Amino acid sequence: MASTNSAAQVLVASNRGPVSYDVREDGSLHTKRGGGGLVSGLSAIGSDADSLWVCSALSEGDREAVRRGVGEAGVRMLDIPADVHADAYNGVANSVLWFVHHMLYQTPLEPVFDAEFRRQWASYETYNRAFAEALAQEAAEGAAVVVQDYHLTLVPGMLRELRPDLRIGHFSHTPWAPPEYFRMLPDDVARQVLGGMLGADRLGFLTHRWADAFTACAEQFAGGLGGTRVGVHGLGADADFLRERAHEADVDERMAALREEIGTAPDGAARRTIVRVDRTELSKNIVRGLLAYRQLLDDHPEWRERVVHVAFAYPSRQDLAVYRDYTAEVQRVAEEINSEYGTPGWTPVVLHVKDDFARSLAAYRLGDVALVNPIRDGMNLVAKEVPVVSDEGCVLVLSREAGAYEELGEEAITVNPYDVIGTARALHEALSMPAGERAERTKRLAAAATALPPAQWFLDQLNAL
Ligand code: G6P
Repeated sequence: MASTNSAAQVLVASNRGPVSYDVREDGSLHTKRGGGGLVSGLSAIGSDADSLWVCSALSEGDREAVRRGVGEAGVRMLDIPADVHADAYNGVANSVLWFVHHMLYQTPLEPVFDAEFRRQWASYETYNRAFAEALAQEAAEGAAVVVQDYHLTLVPGMLRELRPDLRIGHFSHTPWAPPEYFRMLPDDVARQVLGGMLGADRLGFLTHRWADAFTACAEQFAGGLGGTRVGVHGLGADADFLRERAHEADVDERMAALREEIGTAPDGAARRTIVRVDRTELSKNIVRGLLAYRQLLDDHPEWRERVVHVAFAYPSRQDLAVYRDYTAEVQRVAEEINSEYGTPGWTPVVLHVKDDFARSLAAYRLGDVALVNPIRDGMNLVAKEVPVVSDEGCVLVLSREAGAYEELGEEAITVNPYDVIGTARALHEALSMPAGERAERTKRLAAAATALPPAQWFLDQLNAL
């Protein structure tokens, strides 16, 4: 039975939920469980009987599960019509709100708010209303609801109208745009987004920088925060889970395979590795990372044959042309570097695009340097996970525009993500760091990165509500 717990005390709402389904050839449904901070955070609130996660059906398998009434206890999937969901998710959330908060618009990508956008915006409202109604139906008197992210900015205001008795929180996993950028949205849309958010009792952000940007937008465009409180919760890495998972047999196998691909320098020494793991996402700045690596090989020929850039770029949001184009560009630049500098025994860039968590952990363990250079990022958990599982210490080259910079900036080598030459210099410095200093810094990074584990992160928000 699909769970409809009509008296949930704690509810979470997010676009992507903790489970998904595939239809197998024989017609049966296969369940896949997701990971991530929210999933482990929620497990901290204890009994499933009191909690409910409301999320969207995202695939045909998910929709089929809803139709058949199949589901997990504690999860309610909403079967929002596929075209409405596509408008809300691809059209508004990922093409407009994501781009605004990450300040990704640049000629010729600036938004055009035309009739098509207005149709998509109506879908975004419908989609948000479906969540608000489901939450209103499921929540017990006085329950706490924590709504997640830019997909669901209207839900707090809508839910407040339906159920004034609830304690409503909203948490943003992205940055928030500063007023000069946020004002790009049509005035009525900007007011609706802010009004929706301000329907919450409390808003959570990953860093002070994003919280301050929201407050500034509220002051400029909505007459202030009203009664809404704003708090900062810097989600940390889940050390216990990661350390255990990173030492399972499949990760060891992936390490051996990666070492094989990386190979050894002509003098027999182990090659140094610069690793990166991202969704193939414009904000992650993968192409400039590759250009910086090329600059390094250019400026420092002594590293040729002695270093490999291990880059995992996992496809994301492939319904959107700009993501598909970006994926193709990442592959093109990697190939260019390999044909320009590669030798029979040395592939300078090892690029993998097939998502494989065990292989990501293997790269975290063996990397000498981790490159995390986003243009803008809510937090960036890779920056926090690498130091936790690194075997012998890994130097973090970190963008000052990542949320993680607020907590990790002091122990990392920090870069301006637009500055390819500066990033190449940082890579050289990182590769040249003595092993002792590298290990010491990694220890301090790991301590900072695990200061607020997911369970505590979630409980803090509930307590503050
Ligand atoms: C960002 C968002 C998350 C989202 C993730 C993956 O980190 O803040 O809410 O889950 O991207 O994006 P996707 O579109 O695949 O859910």
